[in-house]
Amino acid sequence: MKAKLSGYLLCGFLLAAVFTVANAQSKKKQSLDAKISLLVKKLTLEEKISLLHANGIFSAGGVKRLGIPAIMTDDGPLGVREDVKEGWGPANLTTDSATFFPNGSALAATWNPDLAYRYGHDMGEEARARGKNVMLAPAFNICRTPLCGRTYEYYSEDPFLNSRLAVQSVKGIQSQHVAACVKHYAVNNQEVERGRVNVEVDERALREIYLPAFKASITEGNAWTIMSAYNKLRGAYCSENDYLLNKILKGEWGFKGIVISDWGGTHSTVKAANNGLDLEMGSNPPYNTYYFADKLLDSVRAGKVSLYEIDKKVHRVLWVLYHTDMSDNLPKGAINTPAHSKTAYDIASESIVLLKNEKNLLPLNTSTIKSLAVIGDNATRTFHLGGFGAGVKAKYEVTALAGLQNRLGKTIDIKYAQGYMVAAPRRGGGIKTQASRNADSIMIQQAVATAKSTDMAILFVGGNRDYESESRDRKDLGLPFNEQVLVDAVTASNPNTIVVVVGGAPYDIGKIKNNNHTIVWSWYNGSENGNALADVLTGKINPSGKMPFTFPADLKESPAHALNAYPGENLKVDYKEGILVGYRWFDTKKIEPLYCFGYGLSYTSFAYSGFVTDKKSYNPTESITATLKVKNTGKYAGKETIQLYVSKTGSAVDRADKELKAFKKINVAVGETATVTLRIPVKDLAYYDVKTSKWMVEPGKYKLLAGTSSRDIEQSGTITVN
Ligand code: BGC
Repeated sequence: MKAKLSGYLLCGFLLAAVFTVANAQSKKKQSLDAKISLLVKKLTLEEKISLLHANGIFSAGGVKRLGIPAIMTDDGPLGVREDVKEGWGPANLTTDSATFFPNGSALAATWNPDLAYRYGHDMGEEARARGKNVMLAPAFNICRTPLCGRTYEYYSEDPFLNSRLAVQSVKGIQSQHVAACVKHYAVNNQEVERGRVNVEVDERALREIYLPAFKASITEGNAWTIMSAYNKLRGAYCSENDYLLNKILKGEWGFKGIVISDWGGTHSTVKAANNGLDLEMGSNPPYNTYYFADKLLDSVRAGKVSLYEIDKKVHRVLWVLYHTDMSDNLPKGAINTPAHSKTAYDIASESIVLLKNEKNLLPLNTSTIKSLAVIGDNATRTFHLGGFGAGVKAKYEVTALAGLQNRLGKTIDIKYAQGYMVAAPRRGGGIKTQASRNADSIMIQQAVATAKSTDMAILFVGGNRDYESESRDRKDLGLPFNEQVLVDAVTASNPNTIVVVVGGAPYDIGKIKNNNHTIVWSWYNGSENGNALADVLTGKINPSGKMPFTFPADLKESPAHALNAYPGENLKVDYKEGILVGYRWFDTKKIEPLYCFGYGLSYTSFAYSGFVTDKKSYNPTESITATLKVKNTGKYAGKETIQLYVSKTGSAVDRADKELKAFKKINVAVGETATVTLRIPVKDLAYYDVKTSKWMVEPGKYKLLAGTSSRDIEQSGTITVN
């Protein structure tokens, strides 16, 4: 009796506590809203308008009279961009160097949301130290075409992986009272004609593939700002798209923050203002000529845009400022700290993907190697700047060669040969491709001689930050600068050749896959690039990166290309493949890719066993808990990412062969067995029903497939949804 009574009391107490917290939160919200409304009333119409458009390349607003700070944006996602002056030239400050974080697809290859949080946190801290209150990051899309010039900035081809990483990046950035600006909303998957192209995509693909990571960033990550994409969706520019901005973002998802246009991506005053855009950004003065400057003022005076609409936008701007510069306990921020370097290092070291290790040449047996040839321009190239678009003035960047010298230089004689010459980039106009540049025979001879005179050769090829760039897509997937000629020559001259391909997007490395026994994939891997790579090659770090996108064996087999639906005709691109993007396409159509989504080897081996679910059948409101055992059966401790895909058998609608629904990265010591638990809310099995405009969980059987990649399924089970 006594126990029961104290149980009741405890329940009552807990309920009261929950109620008090909820009440306090709602009061806080009310008082913030009231505070903002009061401030809005004090502003003149001219001041209100001044808060809604750029007044510098990266700044907007600010009303001194009332102590309202300016919106100070800066680019990510590689780190906080250096300050620029009008015309985009560097401001040449001594205070704007930053930590260079690995590129987006590198972060995605870690499959590690905790690292995404640390990335966001540290970049937010640097933004705060540099006086920025909006970071234009994270960026994600769907790699609809592997050619997209910005694939390196984005995460992956999978909406679920994107969502998990985006939410953590946003939370990390905003932990520093800096707003994240998720971009580019939406269906921004190509650079060709990005400013004019109209995307036609069916509603199911929009909801299931293109929107989930944006939705998660807003509803789970609570992102305070979002950037509208340059392109059009269904005939309307994303910056004036009522459906995307008013109906979905602000309506369905309850977004409270600011919709920021991409730079120069606003095309109207009245339409954009009424259809959901809040802040117009752009890079060219005079700023009073902007759509949201004098023209907006005139439109309000003419009654074409209501004062109510303006006040709502101003309220949003102030709401973001109250969460950032005007918030209590504003952190000071910090820049280029050892902790930030460690984050860059940890991301880089978990991102590197071991593609092939047939002769177990890796990890390097450093006690038997006396001399090492390091060959290739990418071994000495830095990646923090380059191309058109955002980069970082890195405080430092360790190149691959420097990393190898740091780690091995004392005991091994390292010789370097450049091997190939990169073509000079032409600003905005593309870079000469392999066709336009012959291999340099003298450089090849030098590389061959170096490789012949050493015990082992590590050959660095791939893209670079000039070759993969904003504002243009690649023309093909071939390795640039005739690198294949160098690969063939070096491989023939030293049987112990390891190929390291550096890139941020898929390349056609089919010939290397066929001819070479040892292949490593690396990225534009941040300030600690070379150290992380050397530690992976020497085995201090066991590689655990997994491909965040499919490498097609032939570009023509990639969905948008197979269907002749890229880059579109007459400025219109039809997403004919619908929901079948990336591995969803390759698996459903049974096309063998070069490397599948989720692929990546380790120096050790893992054995999967004992897959079970907590129940056999579930209601739509429940969650499936699946467990399995993963044993490290090899000789090295290592990390493994267990990927859980779901396949619906006998569906009433077309479905992809399988879809990623959960994953977990774990660390397992040699000989140990880890028990891995993965959770899938049954509602996540839904498809978007276009007839009812609702998410629909189909009853019936579902297969759960646990694997080490999308094509290496080790364990499976079946559940029923009632
Ligand atoms: C890019 C954005 C970027 C903006 C400001 C645009 O060209 O698309 O991602 O944030 O420039 O640099």
